[in-house]
Amino acid sequence: MEVIIKQTYPEMSQVAAQLVVDVLNAKPNAVLGMATGSTPLGLYQELVRLHKNEGLDFSQVTTFNLDEYVGLPVDHPQSYHHFMRENFFKHVNIPPQNVYIPSGTTSNYHAFCQWFEKRIEDCGGIDLQILGIGSDGHIAFNEPTSSLSSRTRLKTLAKPTIDDNARFFERREDVPVYAITMGVGTILDARKLILLASGNAKATAVAQTVEGPITSMVTASAIQLHRDAKVIIDDEAATELRMRDYYEFIYQAQPGAPTT
Ligand code: GLP
Repeated sequence: MEVIIKQTYPEMSQVAAQLVVDVLNAKPNAVLGMATGSTPLGLYQELVRLHKNEGLDFSQVTTFNLDEYVGLPVDHPQSYHHFMRENFFKHVNIPPQNVYIPSGTTSNYHAFCQWFEKRIEDCGGIDLQILGIGSDGHIAFNEPTSSLSSRTRLKTLAKPTIDDNARFFERREDVPVYAITMGVGTILDARKLILLASGNAKATAVAQTVEGPITSMVTASAIQLHRDAKVIIDDEAATELRMRDYYEFIYQAQPGAPTT
């Protein structure tokens, strides 16, 4: 795992955007795994800027989103469908038929989850999965004690997640209790992972993810098992890392490292 610490949120968003650009340069028809939440917003803004000003092309790209609230229709202002459309999809040129987001309103969740997994497989798998992290260390909506080999399925949200997300709803009771989410196993199958975290509220979860034991109590810690995972964070999210100096040393020394 590589840990990249940038002083500010805009800087970390730029590093993440460059990684997406690298993937698209190498493979213009890449399959991207998308995340919601406030953390990847800076990354999406930078990608939109690159699309508008520098011709970054998404015309062959396919995307799969991590998760969606159960019960929210696609045009609900707090649905992840709405979030993705407003913050990213409507600003870039990804063909709408290439966009896959779990359905929060399907009549058969089990069948939908199986279909979603099959679509990922049929599209050749996810090349780069973007991840945020919940304050309890979850990725997507894989709450503590989720199986580390889980696939796309329904999950009941944990109380800290409902509390965290209540700020987006009028009343706490309005936050959905269930979500449909890619599993930890689904996420680990992606060829590359980037996990983004910003701010003090994520510092403990980041330290547990990077330096703690691999445990279903912190599902993000499963990315320690991945061969190509990068954790990109800002200064505040890095405050509880014990090996911070080492990560910074690696990053600075990188340009001089042998490439063959
Ligand atoms: C939700 C999403 C996660 C996201 C997390 C953190 O739980 N399901 O994918 O990582 O929120 O969101 P934020 O970036 O707003 O802190």
